[in-house]
Amino acid sequence: MLKNDLLLRAARGEQTERTPVWLMRQAGRILPEYRALRGRLSGFKELVETPELAAEVTIQPVDALDVDAAIIFSDILVVPDAMGLPYEMVEARGPLFPTTLQSAADVDKLRVADPEEHLGYVLEAIRVTKRALNGRVPLIGFAGAPWTILAYMVEGHGSKTFSKARRLLYTNPDLAHALLRKITDTTIAYLQAQVEAGANLIQVFDSWAGILPPDHYREFSTRYIREICQALPDVPVTVFAKGAYFALPDFTSLDCRTIGLDWQEDPQAARLIIGTDKTLQGNLDPCALYGTREQVQHATIEMLRRFGPQHHIANLGHGVYPDTDPDNVRVFIDTVKEFSTLARTNDL
Ligand code: CP3
Repeated sequence: MLKNDLLLRAARGEQTERTPVWLMRQAGRILPEYRALRGRLSGFKELVETPELAAEVTIQPVDALDVDAAIIFSDILVVPDAMGLPYEMVEARGPLFPTTLQSAADVDKLRVADPEEHLGYVLEAIRVTKRALNGRVPLIGFAGAPWTILAYMVEGHGSKTFSKARRLLYTNPDLAHALLRKITDTTIAYLQAQVEAGANLIQVFDSWAGILPPDHYREFSTRYIREICQALPDVPVTVFAKGAYFALPDFTSLDCRTIGLDWQEDPQAARLIIGTDKTLQGNLDPCALYGTREQVQHATIEMLRRFGPQHHIANLGHGVYPDTDPDNVRVFIDTVKEFSTLARTNDL
């Protein structure tokens, strides 16, 4: 039994006594406790692949920030790793794939991963975290959307344009679909296993949604996200597709409960398209947290007003930036809790 199930009730479209709040990328990055633990290890992968440590880092923001959810400490790139394309996390630079996918033979060589065999460390981290959380807050599981995973597997690293990945969609769409098929099959089995291990809600991150033209987005991304949503009937699913405001009309028919908005999307415009059948999540500009305490409070209240009191999960419009002052993160969280409680009683 969960002691705090605000997130799940809001995601299911039920009335809540206040707006739930958590932050994308809340585990790691900003907390000194995280940096201290991370500094003692060989690298990011050791942390991700050691369930007890991943669980510890997952729970840190619940203790330090009093958020309404934990998100399992892992990365979207564990999926290509499990499929046979290993990544490295280069200090201060980000992910790197020493080999990338070039040809049909490369895609043929990839396996559809078996969750217990190839991603057992994430599933074990979920089980350890659930035991340690003891029902304090729900645990969010996650994976990347197939298009975003393809983008890293073909490009090999982060990029402003992902032009190699986007080129593939024009030059060899059949190969792109063959790869997306394998990624989707792996992701579905992986997310189902996360739910079985104890994840209470699943979020799909399509971080590079915003670089595709709408017709390509429909053909190479939304249809696979749709399949993933359909394969997870037992938990609420959140789809966060950064930059994909053009896809909102298509998203209304996804089998998911929540749509995440980035900070460039207008909550009221999104609500007109999505309606109140789904919950919206977001979307304060992460840079708003660089302001003074008063500015953070003001921006947070403005955001809450735009979403309205129900069918909303408060969050940033993307992951919290690493150099954000944790005190301002606390101001954001406290303001959501206080204002959304007040707004329900005083009709603000
Ligand atoms: O949200 C959380 O707190 C859980 C942990 C989490 C991480 N990565 C840990 C991480 C989550 C949900 C992710 C998702 C992820 N990873 C995404 C989708 C969300 C988004 O931001 O759009 C993407 C695109 C990645 C790929 C990735 N991993 C990049 C580009 C980088 C380097 C830049 C950075 O710091 O994010 C990573 C590394 C990474 N993943 C770190 C953490 C805490 C920092 C590495 C470190 O501690 O050494």
